[in-house]
Formats: sequence, structure tokens, C-alpha cells
Amino acid sequence: MLVSNSFGRTNMCGEVTAAEKGKKVVLLGWVQRRRDLGSLIFLWLRDRTGIVQVVFDSARDEKLLNVASDLRSEYVIKVSGNVELRDEKNINRDLKTGEIEVIAEEIEILNKSETPPFGIEDETVSETLRLQYRYLDLRREKVRSTIMKKAQVASSVRSFLDKDGFIDIETPILTKSTPEGARDYLVPSRIHESSFYALPQSPQLFKQLLMVAGFDKYYQLARCFRDEDLRADRQPEFTQIDMEMSFVDMEDVISVNERLLKHVFRETMDMEIEIPFRRLTFKDAMETYGSDKPDTRFDMKISIINDLVEKCGFKVFTDACEAGGTVCAINASQAGFSRKEIDKLADVAKLYGAKGLAWIAIDENEVRSPIAKFLSEEEIKSIIDKLAAKAGDIILIVADEWERALNAMGQLRLEVARKLNLIDNDKYNFLWVVDFPLLEYNEEQGRYTAKHHPFCSPMDEDFDLLETAPEKVRAKAYDIVLNGNEIGGGSIRIHKAEVQEKVFEALGFTKEQANNQFGFLLNAFKYGTPPHGGLAYGLDRMIMVMTKSDNIRDAIAFPKIKSAACLMTDAPSLVSEAQLDELGIAVVEKKKG
Ligand code: AMO
Ligand code: AMP
Repeated sequence: MLVSNSFGRTNMCGEVTAAEKGKKVVLLGWVQRRRDLGSLIFLWLRDRTGIVQVVFDSARDEKLLNVASDLRSEYVIKVSGNVELRDEKNINRDLKTGEIEVIAEEIEILNKSETPPFGIEDETVSETLRLQYRYLDLRREKVRSTIMKKAQVASSVRSFLDKDGFIDIETPILTKSTPEGARDYLVPSRIHESSFYALPQSPQLFKQLLMVAGFDKYYQLARCFRDEDLRADRQPEFTQIDMEMSFVDMEDVISVNERLLKHVFRETMDMEIEIPFRRLTFKDAMETYGSDKPDTRFDMKISIINDLVEKCGFKVFTDACEAGGTVCAINASQAGFSRKEIDKLADVAKLYGAKGLAWIAIDENEVRSPIAKFLSEEEIKSIIDKLAAKAGDIILIVADEWERALNAMGQLRLEVARKLNLIDNDKYNFLWVVDFPLLEYNEEQGRYTAKHHPFCSPMDEDFDLLETAPEKVRAKAYDIVLNGNEIGGGSIRIHKAEVQEKVFEALGFTKEQANNQFGFLLNAFKYGTPPHGGLAYGLDRMIMVMTKSDNIRDAIAFPKIKSAACLMTDAPSLVSEAQLDELGIAVVEKKKG
């Protein structure tokens, strides 16, 4: 497949198979492993396609064996030799090339290597060391194949969208700071003293301007930057598959994206996924799975039990009901948790803001529960019945404000599923979550903020609620969820000035504030804006899920650690006084505390 002429390569290491029997091959690669049996040396030669065994035999060529005995791990060599079938008993089923070996005839050392800080095959190396020497880490088959999968997916996305009439357009990296949710990364301007560019959190405003400009269908594999607290599924810089379309409604966006994902999974995973995907409203997702990105690979649905406990003797439950909150429960079926394990689950619930965790354990002959003393037998029985619990099951209950109770219960649901091994790792469950609220009330700021961004269109039928009950307004927004991960999201945008004004009003923006922040967009909207909408996927996150990794770092060639630093380059780093002077910037030490 890949041959470099000037070095005479005939095959890639991982692609020499029995079909090459009796042929002479010329291979280039790195020494992965050398097994020295004195008169016989077995060498594993590696390139990006895999590993092949090369044999040096003193009985055939003494001089060559001597050269081979000088080879060390990670030397770069050129080998030529004959492909021979291995004896049946020597076949290595773990190697793609395990049926053959190459009997060496010539060898050339193209470059030596110092002893690497860790063996490439060593699975026990700490991530810190691996990231410090990421270029060596990337030689590992698992890491390399994830990065190559990402390239395949990107290429497959491009070919689908190109064919479907989307136009690939770049948008600026040095741009204007606009409030979009996360904190901006700022870049000082040398020419405009005291002024800063911001790195884009997404191409959102530009892609809308491209619709105003009439491009009709836009896409871009766009780098985005967000200065936010990092988690296992977040990096400070990441890549979006970003798209926007004119003259569309939600169904059009959903439909093209289902076709896109079907195409990508067929081409890159050799899988036929079924479309259309299931849809859940935000409310149902929360009340059934305790999450706006539910993992539907296992069941364990949540039950809301307000009606069963609103008059019980447990104040925590009755208070929650009276305050309009939620008492919700799951059945950890046949969990058999010990007291200690239940206490650990209570810690999980508390980590997610719940004040406590109540539980009812159903044993063969008795029911155990710390809240049994507050509830009548009928009340306990009604809970057991509603959750269809039987001997060996444990019911977990949280009472709190709606979102907090359900969110904590959603996390418990995931934790229990992990503990009980309920998640089928072979499944790819896609899901649309729709009907998100347009706004959410921000206690700290004492005002409503946009759940997605201020340009999301409210549902037509909810428009009048903007003035009377803003929290009830639903947005024309949708998230795409895969196996419990939000891999993408988007919305139909506002394209009419009067709707935009109303939304700004609900957000508490004065005309002047809106103009200061988004003036260029609002201005553009005056000149013939088509109805439009779009969506963006987190490509890195999508690859993480597709390759069954639990960390987004695996899907990025040169990622950053939790503190947003790069262990390989040491970025971020101090810069010289001269550089700062030129920018008119002085660094002041942050006050402690
Ligand atoms: P949103 O902010 O939901 O939407 O981002 C879209 C998708 O990008 C991924 N993502 C991230 N991936 C890795 N690290 C991060 N820090 C990170 N933040 C987000 C997620 C997410 O679903 N402009 C809108 C899209 C639109 O409305 O068209 C936007 O950026 O997978
Ligand atoms: P207490 O009488 O305070 O010891 O509480 C009895 C049980 O109720 C304990 O197991 C607590 O963890 C649990 N509990 C306390 N607050 C809540 C809550 N908000 N939701 C569910 N259970 C709770």
C-alpha cells in the first residue's frame, strides 16, 4: 500500500502475509523486540501497520547475525529477506503476520536509538511518563490506532458532507471575545495596545454570518478553545465537526446527521447502525435516566415516588414534595451491596449535591432501611411495588429539588451499573435529546442565562411564555448522545430581529449591551437573513466513545493534562521581558487567598 521509492521499500511490516510466500521483501521500521538464542535471532520489526518477525540464522549467514546482535530497541533499520511460512506449531495467532517470517538477507542500520525511557510494549507505564514522551507513546499500537481512526473518521465525514453539498470554509482563530459559556483564551495584540483577541470557543457566530452571506451549507473541522475545568471528556483545545444550513428546520438537521453517522459508522467501523435514532425530551431523559445525556445501554429506569411519600412521616421527603421538589428512586436489582458499599453510594450522591441517600434493602424475610421507622408498612410496600423489587434488591432514594435529585440519581444509576457490570460494551446506542429549556435561572447572577447560546430559537408555540414564564420556554435545540456521552449539539437559530430582541430582554440584556457584544451579528441580521440552523460534534469525544476509551486524551495526538499543561513541551511557559514589553504587558503576582 505505502512504498517509498528511494529506500526501496516493498511492503509495510504489518502487511506481509502468506500471499508473499517465497517473495523477497524490503522492509523499513523500528526494532520492537529482539530475542537472541545465540545462533538464531528473532527480531520484531514495527511500523504503523503492525509487526513482522525477521529471522537471522548463523547457519545461513554468520556475518549478518553479528550485525543483528548489535541491534537494540527502537533502532531504525532496513531489512531485506525472503518470506517463508512458519511451521504450523510456530504460527503466532496474535500477530496479523503470524503465519510467516522474513529470513533476513541484508540489513542496514538507518539510525540508532538511545534506550527509551520505557518499553513501547510496557502496559504499566504511568501516563505522566507517557505524555512526557508522547512521540514514543504514539508508537504503541493502541494509541496509534486511535489516532488513525480519527483520521479515517474525519476523512469519511468530509467525503459525506462534500458530496451532500456542504462547503468547507475556514473561520478566524484570532477573533473577538464574546460571551459563550466558557472562559475565553485571550491573545494580546501588539499593534493595538491593551486590546486582546480571543480564540474561538466555536465558530458559532461566523457560521451564522456565512448563512447571511448565502453559502447555504457550511462545514468545517474547526479547532475550538475553551478555558474551563478539564474532565475526562474535555480538553482546552478540541476539534468540532461544525455545520450550518439555511432553509432548514430541526427535522432536516437531524435527518442529514443520521445519514452522516450511518455513513461514518459503515465506512470506519464496518457497522450498520439503525436510523432514525430514538428521541427523548430533556424532561423525559432527566426523569427516566437522571441525565440529559443518558446511557441507554442498560435499563434501571428511575421512578418518581412523590405520590407515595408526600404524606409519610419522613420530613426530608415531605419537605421536598411541599417545596415542589422530587423524590426519586432506582431499583439496584440483585445488588447485594454491603453497608460499606451503600455508604460509598451515599458519597456519590453527595458529590452530586444530594443531601443524603435513603435505601430499602429487601431480604428474603425482612426489609431493612434507615427510614423504615418513618414510613408505614403500606408506604414501604407501595415503594417496593412501584419499583417491582424482590428479595435481593436494594432500592435507592434521593429527595431534593427536581434537577439536583434526578442528577444525583442519574449518577447513582451509572455507578450501580458499573459495579454490577450491567453495561454492554459492544453496543453503540445513539439518541437525540430534544425540547431543552431555552433559559435557565442563574442564582448567582440573579437572572436567566441561555442554556445553549443566546441565538437559539424558542419553539414557536412557547414564544408568548418568554414574558410570563421564561423557564417554561423550550428551545429548538437538540443534542446527539452516544452511550451516555454528549457527542454533539445544535439548534435552529433566531433569524428575526423581533424574536432576538425578546430573547435578549428575557436574558436581561439592554439593547446597548447586546450591541456591544454581538453588534456585528445583529447588524448582519438586518440584511436578509435566511432561516438557518446547525450542529457541531466534538470529534475527539466522538472518537473516544467509538474506540471505547474513557479519556479524551487518547483521541488527541498531543493532549494536555488536567491542569491544561502539555508535559512534552512544557507549555504554558514564561516568556521573556522583551516579549512582554513589546506587548505592553506587565505580569503582576496574583494575591494569595
Ligand atoms: P457545544 O458547546 O455543545 O455547541 O459543543 C459541541 C460539542 O463539542 C464537544 N465539546 C468538547 N469536546 C472536548 N472538549 C471540550 N472542552 C468540549 N466542549 C464541547 C461536545 C459538544 O457536544 N456552536 C455550538 C454548536 C451549534 O449550536 O451548532 C457549540 O459549540 O461533544
Ligand atoms: P437521618 O434521620 O437524618 O439519619 O436520615 C435517615 C436517612 O435518610 C439517612 O440514610 C440519610 O442518608 C437519608 N437522607 C437524608 N437526606 C436525604 C435526602 N435528601 N434524600 C434521600 N435520603 C436522605
